[in-house]
Amino acid sequence: MDHATELSKVFRTLFFLVTFTLVWTRDVKPKQELYLPDYRVYHNLSSIQSELENIAYRNPKFIRMDWAYGSRDLRPQMVMRVTNFSSEGWTYTASQSMPRAHNKLKMLLSYGEHAREFLPVESMFHLLKNLTSGLAYPRGSPEESFSRLILSKVDLYIVGIMNPDGRDYLERTENYCWRGTSSGVDLNRNFDWQFGGKGSSSKANDEEYHGERPFSEPECLVLTDLTLKHKFDAFFSLHSGIRQIYVPFADTESKSMKRLPENVDKMLELADRMSHSTQSRFTYGLAHQLNEYTADGTIFDYMAGNRKIPFSLAIELWGEGDREGARCFDLFNPPSEHLHIALRDIHALYQSMFAYLIEWKEEQQAEYTKMDAPTMTLNFLLLGLLLLLFLAVFFHSRFPTCLRLYPKRRVVSIRSLSSTFSAVTLAMRR
Ligand SMILES: *[C@@H]1O[C@H](CO)[C@@H](O)[C@H](O)[C@H]1NC(C)=O
Ligand SMILES: *[C@@H]1O[C@H](CO)[C@@H](O)[C@H](O)[C@H]1NC(C)=O
Ligand SMILES: *[C@@H]1O[C@H](CO)[C@@H](O)[C@H](O)[C@H]1NC(C)=O
Ligand SMILES: [Zn+2]
Repeated sequence: MDHATELSKVFRTLFFLVTFTLVWTRDVKPKQELYLPDYRVYHNLSSIQSELENIAYRNPKFIRMDWAYGSRDLRPQMVMRVTNFSSEGWTYTASQSMPRAHNKLKMLLSYGEHAREFLPVESMFHLLKNLTSGLAYPRGSPEESFSRLILSKVDLYIVGIMNPDGRDYLERTENYCWRGTSSGVDLNRNFDWQFGGKGSSSKANDEEYHGERPFSEPECLVLTDLTLKHKFDAFFSLHSGIRQIYVPFADTESKSMKRLPENVDKMLELADRMSHSTQSRFTYGLAHQLNEYTADGTIFDYMAGNRKIPFSLAIELWGEGDREGARCFDLFNPPSEHLHIALRDIHALYQSMFAYLIEWKEEQQAEYTKMDAPTMTLNFLLLGLLLLLFLAVFFHSRFPTCLRLYPKRRVVSIRSLSSTFSAVTLAMRR
């Protein structure tokens, strides 16, 4: 027992030391890069926009672009809704003659928050291409079935590139260390959840600069607005730099008070499922337990703590974490020639994410209908009783005497009243 605690102490100290030395490089000055993206493999900002537009244009029944949202410098954030638009709303099931509201799983994926993280955006293209090209395969083939399943069960909202100004700045300056918006604000510290805490910076040249005030950046609006308009079941903020899946909360206060989000068990279960879906090893856990450092004003904390979205996770899709000799592009993105292999592996994460959440949604609906069925029966029963009572009162006088609940009372009838009345008038005339 004593030995065990001693040993665990040693390990914990070691762990802290190691993580401490691994803490991110915090400045955003350019570095001599180890390798650069080949733009025939990676998308640049203009091809992100044109290709997404193209995919949407070719799949009008399944993808719609929403041009309402943009950055400070008015670049579109490429918001899409992906679902089978013909299978919305009411559906009939074989066992029921009545239509039943069939709610799709409502999900929101947010990409491109950090300028230098190219990989998450590429994983979005991989997902969209998988879904849309699957539709061309014969009905019932594995490819077509997967697309059909996702498009019929999921109502998917995607913010294609949340920070287009930052990406534009990076491409123009070729500073592959750039993370923030064009003015250097880290959008993932600009949200109104523990804003301005120690896990962020008030210095404009720090890569974790939180901005002047919560939501000072117009880029935030797309996420606050969408989550106000729609009741999402799940939100994911996609990043890269290390292979980790974070469950809220990441902020400094939550770390000190060990605060947990509402749906923490299910979120950890999902993270566990996802972490086992890939060839590469992913670690997962509560963000404030997983890392020694904290992060204040993050988007996924806000979505869990403020918007109360049942599943709100941040995922870093690729990388080994900071290490000796690392520069910037290589910290967050694989070399162009290895991109495809990385994307194939990451696709398994999406697959397990969808599988878990679709199942969860169906359990929720089943529970809802189960809860609903007795209420409906009871309502019908009460309505029936009320009708019987009404009939009983209405036709009471016609019942044979033996069935009557109360005897017929002597009442003054209208006729006898009127005869009394005419007798009185007659007497008065006299
Ligand atoms: C972006 O990449 C495309 C090729 O995919 C290229 O034709 C275009 O010139 C690039 N745009 C910029 C602004 O670099
Ligand atoms: C899309 O992904 C699913 C799940 O990984 C896979 O079964 C399917 O074959 C893929 N479709 C295409 C067209 O590659
Ligand atoms: C989309 O939904 C419609 C209506 O339910 C259905 O007929 C069609 O086959 C669906 N398409 C796909 C690809 O799932
Ligand atoms: Zn990031």
